[in-house]
Amino acid sequence: MSVPAAVLPSVPVRILGIDTSCDDTGVGIVELLPDGRVNLLANRVWSQTVHARYGGVMPELASREHVERIDEVMGDALREAGLTVTDIGAVAATSGPGLVGALLVGLMYGKGLAQALNVPFHAAHHLEGHIFAAASEAELRAPFLALVVSGGHTHLFDVPRDGEYVLVGATLDDAAGEAFDKIARLSGLGYPGGPAISEAATRGNPDAVPFKEPLQGQKTFNFSFSGLKTAALLAHRGGAAPEDLAASFQRAAVNVLVKTTTRAAHAHGRRTVVVSGGVAANTALREAFRATDLNVVFPGRGLNTDNGAMIALAGAAAIRAGRPASPLDGGATAYAPLANA
Ligand SMILES: Nc1ncnc2c1ncn2[C@@H]1O[C@H](COP(=O)(O)OP(=O)(O)OP(=O)(O)O)[C@@H](O)[C@H]1O
Ligand SMILES: [Mg+2]
Repeated sequence: MSVPAAVLPSVPVRILGIDTSCDDTGVGIVELLPDGRVNLLANRVWSQTVHARYGGVMPELASREHVERIDEVMGDALREAGLTVTDIGAVAATSGPGLVGALLVGLMYGKGLAQALNVPFHAAHHLEGHIFAAASEAELRAPFLALVVSGGHTHLFDVPRDGEYVLVGATLDDAAGEAFDKIARLSGLGYPGGPAISEAATRGNPDAVPFKEPLQGQKTFNFSFSGLKTAALLAHRGGAAPEDLAASFQRAAVNVLVKTTTRAAHAHGRRTVVVSGGVAANTALREAFRATDLNVVFPGRGLNTDNGAMIALAGAAAIRAGRPASPLDGGATAYAPLANA
C-alpha cells in the first residue's frame, strides 16, 4: 500500500470539528502548525439531559436537540478560541458510527459550513476521533497500539502506519463503559455509572467481592464484561455494600483492561499505547496503566467522552497524513468498522 506524503500547511490552519453521534453536541477547534504540531483552541460540549427520564438515549429527541443547540455550541467554541468563522480553514464532522439521525445533524452542518467558507471538508470516524483525542497531550505518530474503551466499545487496534487500523481484540459482549453503567444502576449509584463507581470505589473494599477476571489465560486479546455484570448482580442480591461492589468490580475491570492491553502491546512490539474513550477518564485505570512499562498516552481533560475537539484532532491528522478531502455527497453510517485490514 502506498503511503501519502505528509502534507504540512505553510501557515497555521484552524480546523473546526463536530461530533453529534449520540447525545452530546460537540464542537472543537484545533490549529495545525506548519511544523506539524497541533494546538487545542476550544472544546465545547452540550450534554443533553432530555433523555434522563427515559433511562436511555431516545434517538429522535437526540437529533432534535442537536438541531436546536449546534449553532450556539459553535458560537461558544469560536468565542473560546477567540476566532470568527472566517478564520476556519477546514471542517471535520463525524459520519459514523452512531445514531444516524443524530450524526446527520452535525454532518450536514459541517458540510454546509465547509461549502459556505469554501474550505476542505473531512468526514471523520468516531473511533479515530476518540483515539486522536490523545493528540492533545502528545504528538501521535504510528506505530502505536490504541485501546478505545467507551460506552459502546472496548476495542484494541494496532496502528502500524498513519491511518491504518488493524483490529487486535474486542469485547465479546458488553463494552466496559456499559458494565460500569449497568453495575452502578443495579447498586443504586446513579448515572453515568463510570464516575459514580469511581467515586464510590474510593470508600469501598476491593477485596470484599471476589470477581473472577474474565478471559485471562487466553491467547487472544479479547475482553468480556457480561460475566462481571452477572457476578455483580448476584453479589448485590447477596447484600454486598454498593461501595464494596464498586471497588471490587473496578479493580477487576481495570486489571483485565491493563493486562490484556499490555500483553497485546508486547506481542505487537508497540511501546506507545493510546487509551481513550469515556472509561479512560477513570483514575484507577490511569494509575494502573502508568505503572506498566508502556508509554501510555491519555486524552486531555474533557476529551475522553464524546466531543468535537477529538474530531478536529482526527481531521488535523488526516490533513497531515495527506488524505484527500471527503466528497460532500457522503452519508452517515450507523455501523462503520474502523479496522481496514
Ligand atoms: N471515570 C470514569 N470511570 C469509568 N467509566 C467512565 C468514567 N467516566 C465516564 N465513563 C464511562 O464512559 C462511557 C461514556 O463514554 P463515551 O462518551 O466515550 O462513550 P459513547 O460515546 O457513549 O460510546 P461510543 O463512543 O463507543 O459510541 C460511559 O459508559 C461512562 O460510564
Ligand atoms: Mg463516543
